[in-house]
Amino acid sequence: MTSYESAREEIKRTADIVELIGQYVQLRKAGRNHVGLCPFHAEKEPSFTVSPERHTFHCFGCKKGGDVFSFWMEYHGATFPEALRDLAERYNITISEGFSRTEEKEKSRKREEIYRINEAAAVYFQKSLKDPVKGKAARDYFRKRSISEEIISEFRLGYAPDEWGGLVNTLRGRNRELSGAVEAGVIIPGKKGGHYDRFRGRVIFPIFDLRRGEKVVGFGGRVLDESLPKYLNTPETPIFHKGKSLYGLHSSHSAMRETGRAVVVEGYMDFLALRGHGLGEVVATLGTALTSDHIRKIKGIAGEAVMVFDPDEAGVSAVLKSLPVFLNEGLSARAVELPGGHDPDSFVNTEGLDRFRELLERAPFMFDYYLEKRLARGKGDVEGKVQALKEILPVLSALRSAAQRSLYIRRMAERIGVREEALLSELRALGKKPFQKGTGRDLKERSLPQAAGKNYGDLQLLNLLVHHPDVASRLIECGSTILISDPTVTQIVETFFQKYRENISVSPENLENDFESEAARIKLREVLVGRSFYSAGEVEQAVREIERKAYQRRLSESLKMAKGDIESLNKLLKLKAQGPVRSERETQGRGR
Ligand code: CTP
Ligand code: MN
Repeated sequence: MTSYESAREEIKRTADIVELIGQYVQLRKAGRNHVGLCPFHAEKEPSFTVSPERHTFHCFGCKKGGDVFSFWMEYHGATFPEALRDLAERYNITISEGFSRTEEKEKSRKREEIYRINEAAAVYFQKSLKDPVKGKAARDYFRKRSISEEIISEFRLGYAPDEWGGLVNTLRGRNRELSGAVEAGVIIPGKKGGHYDRFRGRVIFPIFDLRRGEKVVGFGGRVLDESLPKYLNTPETPIFHKGKSLYGLHSSHSAMRETGRAVVVEGYMDFLALRGHGLGEVVATLGTALTSDHIRKIKGIAGEAVMVFDPDEAGVSAVLKSLPVFLNEGLSARAVELPGGHDPDSFVNTEGLDRFRELLERAPFMFDYYLEKRLARGKGDVEGKVQALKEILPVLSALRSAAQRSLYIRRMAERIGVREEALLSELRALGKKPFQKGTGRDLKERSLPQAAGKNYGDLQLLNLLVHHPDVASRLIECGSTILISDPTVTQIVETFFQKYRENISVSPENLENDFESEAARIKLREVLVGRSFYSAGEVEQAVREIERKAYQRRLSESLKMAKGDIESLNKLLKLKAQGPVRSERETQGRGR
C-alpha cells in the first residue's frame, strides 16, 4: 500500500460517516441505516441513505453515493486531493503529497493559491481599516451603521482604501504571483499593462465557505456613500460562486441546528445587524434569489426557513419566486414582511431584537403569504383570481405529497372563494393525476425483494453474497453465475469470486473501487446499504436453492446441446446420476 492509500484507509476507518454527513444532512435512524433528504437532488421524502456498517452512503433517488471522500467531493465541489487533505486535517492524519493525477493536482494547486491570495488580501483590508488615517472614514461608517468592534473582528471586516495600487503593491511586496491575484479576482490587469485593485474606497466583507470554515472564498465591498454600484463582489472564481453562497452560514450552523430554523435575509448589513443584536440562526443570500442550492444547504441543517426580505418590489418578488423552490425541495418556509419600509438592518436597529423575534414567530406560511400577495396584485377582481390560479396550480400539481396538495387546495379554495372540486378538476386538466400515489416509495418498500422485478434471481444471489460472504465458495462451486441474467450483476459477482479465489479476504464494501462502470457501483451500493433478504437461519436454504437451480440450468442447457450426440448424452447421464451436489469435499463440508 502506498502512503496515500494507507492515509485513505485510515481516514475511512477514523471518520464516522454518520457524524460527518450529519453535519450537512439531517439524518434520522432507520434500522441499521440513517436516512435524510438528499443534498444532491430535489426531494421531499428521504431516499438518501447512510450505512455506518458499510461506511457508505447511497441515494436511491439520484443514485449518487460512495464513501466519505465521494461525499466531500460532491458536496463541496472539491477534487479528490482536496477531499483527502481536508479530511486528513479534520481527523489529524498526516499524509504525504504526490499521489494524484496531474490535472486534479493542477486544479487543487490553483484553488489553493486563490485561498492564499484571498487570505493576504483579507489581512491587507483589515490592516487598512485599522490604519489611523486611511481607515478613519470606514471606521466612522461602521460606527454610523452600528457595527460593533466585536462584529468587525469576528467577521474580519475591512476597508479597501481609495487607491489604485494598494493591494497590488502589498501582494508584490510579498512576492505573490499577480496572475494568481487576477484569478482570485482581487486585482485587474490594466489595458496598458500593469494591474490595479478591484476594490477601492469600499468597506469589505470577506465571504467564508462551509468547506473550510475560516477560509476566505471571496469578498463583497460597499461604497461609503450613495454612489453606484453600491456593492461590488469578487467575480466567479474556481472557489467563489455568488449564487450559491450563503453569507454567514459557517458561523450560523450550530445555532441553526439548535433552533431548527434559518432566518434568511438579503444583505451583508442585514446579517451583521441581526447577528450584532444576538440572533444566531441567520444567513444572507448575496442579493440573489434563493436557489435550490441554497435551500438544500439549509435543509441539511434546519427544518424551516423564515425569509425576511426587503419590502420593496424586488424583495416581494424574490419571496414569491422562492415558493415553488421551497415546495419542490420540501423545506417548510415562512415569510416576514417588515413594516414601515424597514429592511432587517434598520428594523432591528430601531425596534430591537425582541420585536424582530415577535415578527418571526408570527410569520405566515409562505404559501399563505404568496396567495395574499398574488391576490392583492390582482386587485381582488375575477381576472386577478384567475391569474393567481394559473400561477399556483402548476406548482401544486408538481407536488408529490397528496396530503400536502389537498391541504393547499383547500386553503386556496377557501381564500379565493371557489369550490374545492372546481380546483381539483382544474388540476386534473393540467394533465397530471393529482392523487396518484407518489413515486417516492419508502425505503422499506424499495429494498424488499419483489421490487427487483424479473431480475429477482440476480439480486437474490448478489444479496446473499454481499450479506453472507462466507457462502462464496459454495456459490462458486455450483457455478451459480449461470443463473444471472443482468450483465452488471455478472460483473460484480465474478469480480467478487475472483478476489475470493485469489485468497484476498473480500469485504464487499471495499469492492466499489474495482468497478469502472457506474452501473456496477450503483448496483453494489444498493445491495450494500440495503438489508439482507435472508436471516442467518435462512441462508442454508437459500444456498441450496441456488445450487439446485444452477444444476437444473446446466442440465437443461446440456440437454439442448446434446441432441443426437451420444457422447454428450453419456456425460449427461453421469451428471444426472451425480445429483445436485458435485464434489465429495463439499458433501463432507456440509455434513459437519
Ligand atoms: N447587492 C449586490 N450588488 C448591488 C446591490 C446589492 O451584490 N449593486 C447584494 C449585496 O450582497 C447586498 C444585498 O444584495 O448586501 C442586498 O442589497 P440591498 O438591499 O440593496 O442592500 P442593503 O443590504 O440594504 O445595503 P445597505 O443597507 O448597505 O444599503
Ligand atoms: Mn439596508
